[in-house]
Amino acid sequence: MARQMDPDDLNPERIVTVFGGTGFLGRRIVKRLLERGFTVRAASRHPARVALVFSSIRRMPEAVEADITDASSIRSAITGSRAVVNAVSLYVEQGVQTFERVHVKAAGDLAAASHDRAIDQFVQISGIGSDPQSDSNYIRARGRGEGAVESAFPGAFIVRPAVMTGPDDAFLTTIVRLIRLLPVYPLFGDGGTRLQPVYVADVAEAVSRLIDGRSHKGSSIFEFGGPRIYTYKELLREIARQLDTHVKLMPVPFAVWNALAGVAELLPAAPITRNQIDLMRQDNVAAIDAPGLKELDIEPRGIDEVIRAIEQRRGVGSRSSPP
Ligand SMILES: NC(=O)c1ccc[n+]([C@@H]2O[C@H](COP(=O)([O-])OP(=O)(O)OC[C@H]3O[C@@H](n4cnc5c(N)ncnc54)[C@H](OP(=O)(O)O)[C@@H]3O)[C@@H](O)[C@H]2O)c1
Repeated sequence: MARQMDPDDLNPERIVTVFGGTGFLGRRIVKRLLERGFTVRAASRHPARVALVFSSIRRMPEAVEADITDASSIRSAITGSRAVVNAVSLYVEQGVQTFERVHVKAAGDLAAASHDRAIDQFVQISGIGSDPQSDSNYIRARGRGEGAVESAFPGAFIVRPAVMTGPDDAFLTTIVRLIRLLPVYPLFGDGGTRLQPVYVADVAEAVSRLIDGRSHKGSSIFEFGGPRIYTYKELLREIARQLDTHVKLMPVPFAVWNALAGVAELLPAAPITRNQIDLMRQDNVAAIDAPGLKELDIEPRGIDEVIRAIEQRRGVGSRSSPP
């Protein structure tokens, strides 16, 4: 439902359109931009969710119905904007919604339409490890998507977060639940993959700083990781320690996970997907030479804060507002 806008809101210097503005990361980017005084359009295929997602904040974004794969809805969503953020996700391919269509073609089209309209800034949310040469369909599409955006919009910011955590995430909340539930916790392979979980609100703050004119030595590619690197095994032990419990770990070969994920993907809300397995095969750690949160003066927060928030939410059962 579109909000009635104040005439002041129509100052194009201050309008930012966030594709995926109702998502896990996108909603935090919207919130941070509103706090910085921008006028924000939250674009998604289900604009009615905007009122629900932002029910607890004082200043609402404008809800815009747009599908990133539809050229005309892209155009009307971005017209008059100063900056555009692409925080659209696709984790499981379904029909015409393929990784190639959404992460490569549509990302490139959105960047090209933004460039044609002389929009100042474009931010593409990608992921650490994106690689146009990868054997994995998903990781390859993310890498090719970065290339499509860079060619269509020279100087676009490419933001690669590590796995993101938050009280409503799909990563730590699942681990916390399973550690409490399972007598033995299955590892991905031998649990040696290195991860650097980053707090979703820190990534959102970083994106809002980029849009507000902060950068680092003219860099356009940023990798955002958290304060600590863990092997998957170490991470599970650390979470168990913080939950004041014990976890028994069991190695499970990647081939077994792949077979399980292939079946899981047939379910309406797949609990695990083959692209997640692909991502767990390789280290997911910010490159030492890539600018990150530190270069934007953000002190990354650790998983302890998120685990406390997850435990509190389990107590109160609230799931609507972005922290
Ligand atoms: N979550 C992580 O740990 C993580 C880590 C690294 C990188 N990333 C990247 O960060 C980005 C955001 O991820 P997320 O986890 O925040 O995703 P998410 O929670 O699944 O949200 C995705 C958003 O995209 C919108 N969307 C999906 N398909 C769309 C389409 N065809 N047209 C327009 N909007 C569409 C969704 O709204 P509707 O369904 O209403 O359209 C929703 O607002 C993605 O690029 C993801 O790969 C995520």
